[in-house]
Amino acid sequence: MARPSLLIAIWVCAAVARADPMLERFERWMGRHGRLYAHAGEKQRRLEVYRRNVELVEQFNSMNNGGYKLADNKFADLTNEEFRAKMLGFGPHSRTGHTTTAPSTMACADSGLAEDYSDLPKSVDWREKGAVAPVKNQGECGSCWAFSAVAAIEGANQIKNGKMVSLSEQELVDCDTEAVGCAGGYMSWAFEFVMKNRGLTTEGNYPYLGMNGNCQTPKLNESAVTISGYRNVTASSEPDLLRAAAAQPVSVAVDAGGFVWQLYGGGVFTGPCTSELNHGVTVVGYGETQGDTDGDGGETPGQKYWVVKNSWGPEWGEAGYIRMQRQAVAGAADGLCGIAVLPSYPVM
Ligand SMILES: *[C@@H]1O[C@H](CO)[C@@H](O)[C@H](O)[C@H]1NC(C)=O
Ligand SMILES: *[C@@H]1O[C@H](CO)[C@@H](O)[C@H](O)[C@H]1NC(C)=O
Repeated sequence: MARPSLLIAIWVCAAVARADPMLERFERWMGRHGRLYAHAGEKQRRLEVYRRNVELVEQFNSMNNGGYKLADNKFADLTNEEFRAKMLGFGPHSRTGHTTTAPSTMACADSGLAEDYSDLPKSVDWREKGAVAPVKNQGECGSCWAFSAVAAIEGANQIKNGKMVSLSEQELVDCDTEAVGCAGGYMSWAFEFVMKNRGLTTEGNYPYLGMNGNCQTPKLNESAVTISGYRNVTASSEPDLLRAAAAQPVSVAVDAGGFVWQLYGGGVFTGPCTSELNHGVTVVGYGETQGDTDGDGGETPGQKYWVVKNSWGPEWGEAGYIRMQRQAVAGAADGLCGIAVLPSYPVM
């Protein structure tokens, strides 16, 4: 029989545990995301990280400043440092915290001024046209560069050939020797690999593993889709990015390292972020908010945005997407989070 003092101690602990509403919320969150921890100490540590993130989310949302929301999403048990180390991957060594700034490209002096963009549609959504595969998940591997390039190739192929063929990121991770797999790469390297290899095989033929593997060389000549080249959009010109995105999905690099990206929960994202590029994503459209259509307070009307496909699974953001403010600051040529600094797209 247990000693009475021990029983009292257990009873007290249980009572304290039940009295912590954050623990209950955390356990519901764990259930929702299928999360298990190796031992009680780890769970306790994660609870404290979760608690700080929930406080951050609630504080941010109560200010209701930018109109977008944060959420205790699937990254809510990670510190921002852990999140940065796991979920990015633009540029080699990005996992060590190194970020890539824009190469010193001369922007054409007349870009966005001399040319008229009034011929472009007011909004474009390549998802509605079947040119965007379902949102994928890079896992804990810095392979965003592969996902960004593949989404742009899938889009270009569907637009040209009328067929959506989901393509293999793992082939790029394993076989593109210029890049360093899960330790990062550039979309331009991915496009160059596809050109040299005369294509990429399907997702089904070379499925994603989320870790570095040996290149399965027999699959290199089982290409389903190829490209003839790729182009860089004029650096730091949102109007030129608009023209490119009106024609097809476009690979872009952004700064996605902040807690506002980590915990993004929907709405038109307005920052804060920098132009220190560390993550590859894909612009799959653009538009403008219509405002309150259902009487629930809704969004501020007339906010211009980019529709951006991410590779953190459909549970993140707006079903895996983020809408990012377009023409955020007049005259700020880099675009929000550097979205216009280094865009590129494949040519079929
Ligand atoms: C693919 O390459 C392998 C050698 O790596 C070769 O044996 C095979 O015949 C090739 N298949 C096609 C369809 O070209
Ligand atoms: C695109 O830009 C990258 C980075 O500046 C550069 O390395 C690459 O050669 C450019 N590619 C083309 C096709 O212009």
